[in-house]
Amino acid sequence: MDARLGAAAAYVRPGRAAADIGCDHGKLSAWLAGSGRCPRVFACDLRPGPLEKARKTCAPWADKIELRLGSGLSVIAPGEAEEIIIAGMGAETIMEILEAAPWVFDPRYNLVLVPATKHSLLRRWLARWGFDLRAETLCQAAGRWYAVMNARYTGHCFEPDGLYCLCGRMQGQPGAGDYRAQQCGKLKKYRRGLAPGPEAEAVDRLIEEMEEDKWPQL
Ligand SMILES: C[S@@+](CC[C@H](N)C(=O)[O-])C[C@H]1O[C@@H](n2cnc3c(N)ncnc32)[C@H](O)[C@@H]1O
Repeated sequence: MDARLGAAAAYVRPGRAAADIGCDHGKLSAWLAGSGRCPRVFACDLRPGPLEKARKTCAPWADKIELRLGSGLSVIAPGEAEEIIIAGMGAETIMEILEAAPWVFDPRYNLVLVPATKHSLLRRWLARWGFDLRAETLCQAAGRWYAVMNARYTGHCFEPDGLYCLCGRMQGQPGAGDYRAQQCGKLKKYRRGLAPGPEAEAVDRLIEEMEEDKWPQL
């Protein structure tokens, strides 16, 4: 497993069933079952091809791993797995998957989310929908920065500020400065597409804050 999947596995609570949504190659499912961390794992994917790859990877632990074909959490019944991992998809897809499964809006479920893109969008979504972003791990894989997020539903919804959305809980972690510079670069690119007006002014203020080395108040 790469650093990203290793960090995701570390957020999975031992001794509980896990659902690996979008399992593809099946490496995370295999590790969760093979290491003994999870007594039961559901390796799930939208497409038959990836699921076939997972079947091969997971074959040594076939007694503990069940493969399921279908979209998002539609293949998992409420309560079947308390550890829900969704890794390697864009933030919008992750958000759609969660919105389509209202049963995960419950503190018993432990979410481990690894967006492939748009980390800030997912942080904002979590805050707005009442999920506490308990912790994040910053890691690098294949030359890119990844945010591995651990969240649980509390019902406390809030509107996060821009600094929080962009930087999350990364302050103090190795590579945090580089991560913030990358996020700032993306924001500047977004700014170039804006017409003069209140939004452009707000983005300018946010860019200034990021360049002044500010971090979100947590
Ligand atoms: C890039 S792979 C990520 C594999 C692995 N989770 C990882 O992070 O290394 C994304 C996988 O998600 C699957 N996928 C995309 N949309 C999905 C959905 N709505 N439900 C389940 N799987 C989905 C794709 O078929 C693909 O196998």
